[in-house]
Amino acid sequence: SASIDIAVIAGDGIGPEVTAEAVKVLKKVTATEGVDLLLTDYKLGAEHWLATGETLPDSTIEALRGHDAILFGAVGAAPGDTSIPSGLIEREMLLKLRFSLDHYVNLRPSFLYDGVASPLADPGTIDFVVVREGTEGPYVGNGGVLRKGTPQEVATEVSVNTAYGVERVVRDGFRRASERPRKKLTYVHKHNVLVYAGHLWKRTVEAVAAEFPDVSVDYLHVDAAMIFLVTDPARFDVIVTDNLFGDIITDLAAAVTGGIGLAASGNINMDRTAPSMFEPVHGSAPDIAGQQKADPTAAILSAALLLRHLGHAGAAGRIEAAVKADIAGRSAALPRTTGAIGDAIAQAV
Ligand code: NAD
Ligand code: IPM
Ligand code: MN
Repeated sequence: SASIDIAVIAGDGIGPEVTAEAVKVLKKVTATEGVDLLLTDYKLGAEHWLATGETLPDSTIEALRGHDAILFGAVGAAPGDTSIPSGLIEREMLLKLRFSLDHYVNLRPSFLYDGVASPLADPGTIDFVVVREGTEGPYVGNGGVLRKGTPQEVATEVSVNTAYGVERVVRDGFRRASERPRKKLTYVHKHNVLVYAGHLWKRTVEAVAAEFPDVSVDYLHVDAAMIFLVTDPARFDVIVTDNLFGDIITDLAAAVTGGIGLAASGNINMDRTAPSMFEPVHGSAPDIAGQQKADPTAAILSAALLLRHLGHAGAAGRIEAAVKADIAGRSAALPRTTGAIGDAIAQAV
């Protein structure tokens, strides 16, 4: 029978709470579908760093390569926590994983479910997917500081964009657009100001567009895109964009579709040269950690994306249907704990 071998990195804060529910649902759905599920826990994150001084040893990356996929919770300390350098785990563990495992497609679907209250008065139908570049841009740590701590300090943070890196993610955006009913691609950048990277993106989109004559192409500067995300989110189908713009766009996209607790993502290596990694868009939420207040839906939907990536579309569809049904009943229900939401979705699967 089929089997899947998953590495689990629960991480910090609400990471372990929401990941436990995603694992609960994965166990249920794989048992129902007759798929063997192998789970291996990896202790990584801020707490692990405090205990061991390790962020992400090379040996751990090599071990992770042996799994079919990675299920990731969240990492990061509370803002103001001085026991750990700010952003250390985010950069040296999460980003290092995305870069080492070549997760060039950061896939972030945005969907307004029936029964969810959007903060928008008249949201319309929201069903789009952001294809965020995952391995380049301002995230690569290419910068420096001169005359640090003086009034003459100069700090740079150079965005790196390669023809190879831009082309592969743009092509992925077009491919996804061509497979969706509306076949529309919006690329978002800021090429009125960012003339080097922006123009590489522009030329790349124009060149790849020729391969996809059935896809209609639209361009928005990122600032204007934020207007439309709030005034007319229904206009979007596939958005392709750079790493930092994609980070910002997808938190707003989560907010307009009912909250960060519902937003799932995949860090995908489309060439399958290394395992892909699936995680909620949200962070470790130190403000609610340890209280069973976190919504595990984003983590559960990320597990569905994982199953679909591994070819288990039926199992993924069962999870998505169970989530849809659960969400539809939420407005009438009393607030539930993280565990109770996971139980209900696992039950419905
Ligand atoms: P956050 O996403 O952790 O929290 C933002 C707000 O959303 C908080 O009020 C939080 O309570 C709420 N929230 C988040 N997830 C929720 C859920 N599932 N259910 C209900 N409410 C939820 O962002 P932040 O506060 O900017 O970051 C906290 C820490 O997480 C920082 O250390 C940051 O660097 C890190 N971070 C990690 C990831 C990741 O691991 N992928 C992503 C974002 C932030
Ligand atoms: C996300 C997070 C990360 C990012 C941080 C924690 C490095 O905000 O997954 O959206 O910026 O990509
Ligand atoms: Mn983010």
